Amino acid sequence: MKCSFSERTFLVLVATATISGTVLAQAGKSDFGREEYQANCAVCHGNEGKGNGPYIEFLRKDPTDLTTLAKRNGGVLPVKRIYEMIEGEHVPSHGSRDMPIWGNTYRAQSHDWVIGSAPDRQVYVRSRILTLVDYIHRIQVY
Ligand code: HEC
Repeated sequence: MKCSFSERTFLVLVATATISGTVLAQAGKSDFGREEYQANCAVCHGNEGKGNGPYIEFLRKDPTDLTTLAKRNGGVLPVKRIYEMIEGEHVPSHGSRDMPIWGNTYRAQSHDWVIGSAPDRQVYVRSRILTLVDYIHRIQVY
């Protein structure tokens, strides 16, 4: 499978997102993953990630229950699949996809928020996706 970034960078970013998410949550400060989730995902996937947001009546497919992704995958969170689904890289070209392509949204916003070159903007995009992966990790039920 084609990967647009190195495995090592990916792992470092996952670790950073996980550690910062945990530390911030414990300190009772901002929970970026949760905030990002509530702002962009809860409308379809529901406040608790159960796939029952208010927008479902407008969708052709039911939004996935995000809390059982690991359970349904032999107890292992399918991190790469989740990342790619959010990023939107592997959207079927002729398929019907109800889930928005967040990679495009974050890339567009990176031009507003990041002063710097393309690699800096990529870090911005990946960080936002990884805080969501971290949040989804934290809401898993086993
Ligand atoms: C407009 C509704 C909508 C929004 C908003 C939305 N999703 Fe989805 N999502 C879906 C639907 C519907 C599916 C089921 C697959 C499909 O048809 O696209 C899905 C599937 C997924 C999956 C795939 C799970 C699997 O089985 O691999 C993940 C992960 C996911 N969404 C995460 C998110 C995250 C994170 C956000 C917020 C950034 C988000 N979604 C926002 C509708 C939405």
